Amino acid sequence: MEQTYAMIKPDGVQRGLIGEIISRIERKGLRIVAMRMYRITDDVARRHYAEHTEKVFFGSLIDFITSSPVVSMIVEGENAVSVMRTMSGATNPNDAAFGTIRGDFGLDVGRNIVHTADSLESAKREIAIHFTDADVVEYTKAEEAWVYE
Ligand code: RTP
Ligand code: MG
Repeated sequence: MEQTYAMIKPDGVQRGLIGEIISRIERKGLRIVAMRMYRITDDVARRHYAEHTEKVFFGSLIDFITSSPVVSMIVEGENAVSVMRTMSGATNPNDAAFGTIRGDFGLDVGRNIVHTADSLESAKREIAIHFTDADVVEYTKAEEAWVYE
């Protein structure tokens, strides 16, 4: 089992897509083991997106991600990192396939609704930024015998 980090960004929350996105994660068979809604601080935003510090869009990205609440999650399952990246779709919603979250709901690269960790290493780093061990619940879902062989 892998753990990944996923975030419903401010636009996803403001557009009323929290339920839609959580529903897609649930319907896929993945298990949410931590979830929290909060307004990201400037410091946390800069640590979260540290790899983009030098990019021209960094300032607007930090302004956007701190502009309104987000919903943060740890999602667990087989190949959870790549499954959640596939579910999100391409960074630019105009390139994202229909059936993905960004492909179905987005039109602008700066308003692409969800963040998902791009590797196992990033997932570990991001989970440590947004959660503590006490936030994580260990449980199994009854359906898992029907999700995994
Ligand atoms: P994310 O980290 O948010 O899940 O997105 P990603 O991996 O698909 O894309 P990444 O390259 O990590 O970029 C992070 C976020 O920065 C914004 N961005 N704007 N104006 C631009 O050219 C541009 N490029 C990236 C996007 O909101 C992207 O999600
Ligand atoms: Mg990224």
